[in-house]
Amino acid sequence: MDNVKKIPVILDGDPGHDDAIAWTIANVSDRLEIRAVTTVGGNQTVEKTTYNARRIAALLGITAPVAKGNPGPLMSKPMTAGTFHGETGLDGPKLPEPDRPLCELGAVELMAKVLRESEDPVTIFSTGAQTNVAALLLAHPELKEKIGCISIMGGGIQYGNWVPAAEFNILVDPEAAKTVFDSGVPVQMCGLDVTEKALVMPEDFERIRHVGNEVSRIVAEWLDFFMIVHREMGYEGAPLHDPNAVLSYLYPEIYDIREMHVDVETSGLFTRGCTVGNYGMIPNRGVLEKNNARVVMNVDREKFVDLLVEAVKKYDGREVKL
Ligand code: BDR
Ligand code: CA
Repeated sequence: MDNVKKIPVILDGDPGHDDAIAWTIANVSDRLEIRAVTTVGGNQTVEKTTYNARRIAALLGITAPVAKGNPGPLMSKPMTAGTFHGETGLDGPKLPEPDRPLCELGAVELMAKVLRESEDPVTIFSTGAQTNVAALLLAHPELKEKIGCISIMGGGIQYGNWVPAAEFNILVDPEAAKTVFDSGVPVQMCGLDVTEKALVMPEDFERIRHVGNEVSRIVAEWLDFFMIVHREMGYEGAPLHDPNAVLSYLYPEIYDIREMHVDVETSGLFTRGCTVGNYGMIPNRGVLEKNNARVVMNVDREKFVDLLVEAVKKYDGREVKL
């Protein structure tokens, strides 16, 4: 792969255990080059997710700048998800302290700079609310053509998780999500339809732990923590949402992906944050509404886990200073 040009990427998220694992995978892909890491509030406040992003960068050896996002959603009040990710937003194993200063630019300005300076289209992996991405599209519409794909974890065509109709990332900032889906930029959506099937079972945690390097140990301990609340909720494994945004982009062959038109509900009393997709029940609707997203609906779970194990193996020899 040495002479294959890498795809420039921005990691935008709210780490968060599953964001952290998504970034762990992206960082060792020989097809991706991380140009920036940007943070958004969601799993915890943006202060906490930014600190976590910097600790993850130190753990994984990510040297791209890390920039802090807007303090809250475009129009609504901030929400957090401490039930799933703990008080820090990334509870569980001890992590190294940040080893680089926070970027002086804010998230949106850093994203704009990366896009402006890139010769090739940039892919954005958005694994939190889409606040930063939407703010970028609104402030710099001229840069849209520099974005190759926005691959998001968010939404659900068939159901929600935070409320019956809406998934957390979209519910945090529905106006931002609508801006992204309506932007005309290619969007790939990994919603709950697929991410709830990407279950990592306790026996898979052991496979990861037995890889035996420092990063694999920490990934296994993140999974141990993430499993606690999911076990209480009756899950047999941890639904590893965010890594699907990266893996479905890199390995579409292990996924079932369908083109659809997706609208985001921004005003419903019970349905705010709902991603309404034409799931194929209204055959002619595609004539009226152009498809605006590649929606990922299913995954080969075992291959997904194998790719996760392969990724952590690539950290053999990495020293982690705790
Ligand atoms: C999404 O919400 C967050 O808690 C996770 O990190 C994931 O991005 C799942 O609904
Ligand atoms: Ca996330």
